[in-house]
Amino acid sequence: MKKVPSSIHFTQNVNKQLYSCLKFFKPDRIAILVDENTLVHCLPKLQLVKETPLIQIKSGEKNKNIETCKIIWQQLTDFKFTRKSLLINLGGGVIGDMGGFVAATFKRGIQFINIPTTLLSQVDASIGGKLGIDFNQFKNHIGVFKDPDAIIICDEFLNTLCRRELKSGFAEIVKHGLIYDLNYWRDIRMNLFSEITDWQYFIKKSVFIKADVIEKDPYESGLRKILNFGHTLGHSIESWYLDTEKDLLHGEAIAAGMIMEAKLALDLGLIEEKYFGQVINYIDQVFDRITLFPPFDKFKSLLRQDKKNQGSTVMFSLINGPGSCLFDIKVKDNQIADAINFYLN
Ligand SMILES: NC(=O)c1ccc[n+]([C@@H]2O[C@H](COP(=O)([O-])OP(=O)(O)OC[C@H]3O[C@@H](n4cnc5c(N)ncnc54)[C@H](O)[C@@H]3O)[C@@H](O)[C@H]2O)c1
Ligand SMILES: [Zn+2]
Repeated sequence: MKKVPSSIHFTQNVNKQLYSCLKFFKPDRIAILVDENTLVHCLPKLQLVKETPLIQIKSGEKNKNIETCKIIWQQLTDFKFTRKSLLINLGGGVIGDMGGFVAATFKRGIQFINIPTTLLSQVDASIGGKLGIDFNQFKNHIGVFKDPDAIIICDEFLNTLCRRELKSGFAEIVKHGLIYDLNYWRDIRMNLFSEITDWQYFIKKSVFIKADVIEKDPYESGLRKILNFGHTLGHSIESWYLDTEKDLLHGEAIAAGMIMEAKLALDLGLIEEKYFGQVINYIDQVFDRITLFPPFDKFKSLLRQDKKNQGSTVMFSLINGPGSCLFDIKVKDNQIADAINFYLN
């Protein structure tokens, strides 16, 4: 396997790794950002905690917004944070994306360490420097690119994560196999989600894949777009749910997005029927289909906000064979409607 950037640390001893990073960065002040769940389940695992100020926010995608950022910026100000201070983001992708964004913008940027505590954030969200928040209904609409000063990945945190959250992270693992690595896709297919107990192999393999793609195209001018397979339609559904009382996890939206976008790939002649069947059957075996969908007009208006668009054209990243994916594919509205109908029927 290729090397990952030196800022990514896999460890079974989170405290040792964290101390060594802090010794290296020598911040003048530290704070830890948690939500109510990582406060209970993850914070007790950090020895540092007694002397370190805490910033606690409400969990969930619906709080990944500017209001919560204001609370965090205010606390950093109250704690007299300087440009030499450091924020530790202890949590899933919401904490990592938002805590990173807050740190990257506070006084034009302070140091931050991400300690991802969900499968989704360990295999995907914490890697690649995309930081940000949702704006009104639009997913990750406001944000910056900036790598954390360190990312500490310890699979021990997953012991307290519920099955539904674990499965949500698994969607990104499936995506990594589908878009980039034929052998990985084979390994994934050989495992029933319900029987996986050791996540180390999947975490490392997914991180290596994502890091490899990003090394080749850090700012998403080309290749990096393949990581958006399943996310064009998936994000639209996720955005729409932000405005409802119902909850939908990121990976659940992406699993639905991957089915619909695999159908687009089939209809555009990019993949064969047999492979299509294999992909759909595997995803269906792990994830229940979502039944509540935005109306088509709403879907279309949400798609217009997709960050990959060129002018008013919606661009897709679509698989074109096992372990392979193309980007910047134009798709017509009627093809999108067909893919949605296929999913819902
Ligand atoms: N920046 C990127 O490149 C990137 C990539 C993929 C996803 N994302 C973003 O990541 C977010 C989703 O991340 P997520 O799935 O980690 O969601 P999350 O941060 O909301 O965490 C899921 C839930 O698990 C709880 N939790 C976290 N760690 C726990 C633990 N160890 N034990 C028990 N409970 C725990 C959290 O409090 C939360 O309720 C989305 O906002 C998505 O847009 C970003
Ligand atoms: Zn994702």
